[in-house]
Amino acid sequence: MKSAQYLLLPGPTPIPLRVARAMDRPMINHRGPEFKAIIEEVTAGVKQICRTQGNLLIYPSSGTGGLEAAVVNFISPGDKVLAISIGVFGDRFAEIARRFGACVEKMEFAWGSGADPEQVRLRMEQDVDQEIKAVLITHNETSTGAYNDIKKIRQAMGGHPALMLVDAVSGLAAIELRMDEWNLDVVVSGSQKAFMIPPGLCFMAFNDRALETQRKNLNNKYYWDVSLGLEYLAKGQTPFTPPISLYYGLQEALRMMLEEGLDSILQRHTAYREMVRTGLRAMGLELFTADQYASNAVTSVRAPGGIGANRIRKYMLDEFNTILAGGQQNLDDAIFRLGHLGYIRELDIISVLAALEITLVKLGHPVELGAGVREAQQVLMRVHGDRQK
Ligand SMILES: Cc1ncc(COP(=O)(O)O)c(C=O)c1O
Repeated sequence: MKSAQYLLLPGPTPIPLRVARAMDRPMINHRGPEFKAIIEEVTAGVKQICRTQGNLLIYPSSGTGGLEAAVVNFISPGDKVLAISIGVFGDRFAEIARRFGACVEKMEFAWGSGADPEQVRLRMEQDVDQEIKAVLITHNETSTGAYNDIKKIRQAMGGHPALMLVDAVSGLAAIELRMDEWNLDVVVSGSQKAFMIPPGLCFMAFNDRALETQRKNLNNKYYWDVSLGLEYLAKGQTPFTPPISLYYGLQEALRMMLEEGLDSILQRHTAYREMVRTGLRAMGLELFTADQYASNAVTSVRAPGGIGANRIRKYMLDEFNTILAGGQQNLDDAIFRLGHLGYIRELDIISVLAALEITLVKLGHPVELGAGVREAQQVLMRVHGDRQK
């Protein structure tokens, strides 16, 4: 018998049965009252998750489409843009802006770390003529398992009028983000991560300041045009045919999320991070990201000497039907990544750590069986203790 699959990717993530059942419903008229009720409910729900009262549009697209939507609406060709990058996805956001004609200045930080707010502060202060029109940043850098302290970086921009555009595709609802309170202008996220639904939707929240910029934007656009999106949203519709089944799923997932409460969701993800990191360290493994920058959503691990990360992943897949992510670009075979966001249970993490211990022993890395599991259990005991207080 093949055991149930453990999908520990940083997206797509497992889907709750409630969501799967909700999606298994007949089609409805996307220009009728039933769909209007759904779009109104989910728009309000995603805004709650972004902690914003601003504007929010949902597009049928992967996360990258959302990043492109942000660029084409809020950055004009020739605009100077500061793109802060700490990994693959920071590079991607910069590249999208470049391809749409922005003059992109990259500010790069070592992979595995977060951006230094002080350097951002200095750069913004230097820009006395306020040439920089937008700052691009990644909330959670999925390729390394590091996150950026968005609040501090926003504060570091001081009174500079540049818009801040945040790629929160994998971070939203796993790591704290307060769009309005932190004064973020645009936040993009995706369905297949902490939202617990399949890939295929992206969310783009933007404030009125961003909307004002959009009105003067010089890019050609049609599908991504937020003016059109807002016009239709006011009628309870989307400009083009929406993926209705995904909306059913989103509606149910948001109900689950709001029943649990956003603070509890974030705490649960913090507990996952602690369990995973403590357990892995007890196995003698080296973590790629320092504690200071460690993500709640994904943890990157260096493969121990002589054992490639991809051999570990293959053994985990073949023997335990457990799917871990590999390293991207230069990190291929050097690291593996455990996604722990969305619909993951504490006991899933314990099981995966147990499987990983056996895998490491089989591949020649000396681990005392149970060492990592025991430490993760200790973390879990503390978390349960705190919850009961
Ligand atoms: C931080 C981040 N940005 C952007 C993307 C791109 O999303 P997609 O693959 O859905 O286009 C991802 C996907 O993993 C991501 O983690």
